[in-house]
Amino acid sequence: MHILHIVGARPNFMKLAPVWRALQGHACFRQTLVHTGQHYDSGMSDIFFQQLGIPPADVNLAVGSGSHAQQTADVMARLEPVVIERKPDLVLVYGDVNSTVAAALVCSKLHIRVGHVEAGLRSGDRAMPEEINRLVTDQLSDLLFTPSEDADANLQREGIAPEKIHRVGNVMIDSLVQLLPAARECPANGFPEKYVLVTLHRPSNVDDGAVLREILSSLLAIADELPVLFPAHPRTQQRITNLGLHTGQLQLLPPLPYVEFLALQSRAVAVITDSGGIQEETTYLGVPCLTVRDSTERPVTVSTGTNILVGQDRNKLGRELRNILQGRAKQGRVPPLWDGRTADRIAEVLQKV
Ligand code: UD1
Repeated sequence: MHILHIVGARPNFMKLAPVWRALQGHACFRQTLVHTGQHYDSGMSDIFFQQLGIPPADVNLAVGSGSHAQQTADVMARLEPVVIERKPDLVLVYGDVNSTVAAALVCSKLHIRVGHVEAGLRSGDRAMPEEINRLVTDQLSDLLFTPSEDADANLQREGIAPEKIHRVGNVMIDSLVQLLPAARECPANGFPEKYVLVTLHRPSNVDDGAVLREILSSLLAIADELPVLFPAHPRTQQRITNLGLHTGQLQLLPPLPYVEFLALQSRAVAVITDSGGIQEETTYLGVPCLTVRDSTERPVTVSTGTNILVGQDRNKLGRELRNILQGRAKQGRVPPLWDGRTADRIAEVLQKV
């Protein structure tokens, strides 16, 4: 069976790597890798390929940045001839980025079976571009690989046939489990012993200057008590620079490679983020996570894990952080099937289709 994988953005890479490796272990699969080029900086892409052991892409569509419509349309227009030429039996798409939905649209119209890895997640917030990507991708997919029970329930509510849904667990945790030993070996590199780790890149937090200014000022208040390390996504860095915002004693860093970032997460007193994947990684690591959003498509990180939604409420952020610093952090457990063997379960399903 010829399987074509399509990835484009940073959070796709840690989901692809274990699946690629698991399929490699079976002679019945031939694999092709397409990178859409949605993320193109070496710090957002190449270094992840290296650390995760992903081979260079067979095809790079080099779409780069653009408006949502532009970027999605570019992936579609450039991917279609590749899929027609390569004739895969099945295409795997990952997560919820623009490249994911664009690829699902192209392949389903070419009558090629689509498998969605990390299907069924819903925040209920259609103002989030990723929510639109998730809804559309899942409707178009033939195989839906879900990480948790809530995802299965979401899909069934939306009328997806139960036989298409395969609960396999959280594939991103496979990469974490594989590289955690390397992260534990990672030198502290002059970082302080106790710190709060921050990442922010959602349009709802960084695109509006007033909102971003308010969030930075809450972080500056935290930095009066404890060092704040802030590896900034390019879009966040651009907004801070363009708006001339004051970052004072916040330790702004460039985007970090996977292993180095995992090391920082595992040693942090707390993580403040608006990322989806980091809510899950902190839950696995048992590190307290405060999420600067009103909703999450990963509710199991709140119900079972260490995650707390603080929205853009500065008082709530301060209050929850104080609880953590005073030793009253929320305790969590690792959800079922977050065991590092999800990609093997995906390979098992694919052997039977
Ligand atoms: C994308 C995903 C988001 C994911 C995030 C992780 C969508 C809708 N969003 O958001 O779900 O959480 O990736 O990183 O697909 N840029 C660079 N270099 C790069 C890539 C981007 O400088 O390698 C800058 C560009 O100015 C670009 C901006 O970042 O316009 C945003 O990039 P884009 O891919 O549109 O979305 P992300 O915010 O990265």
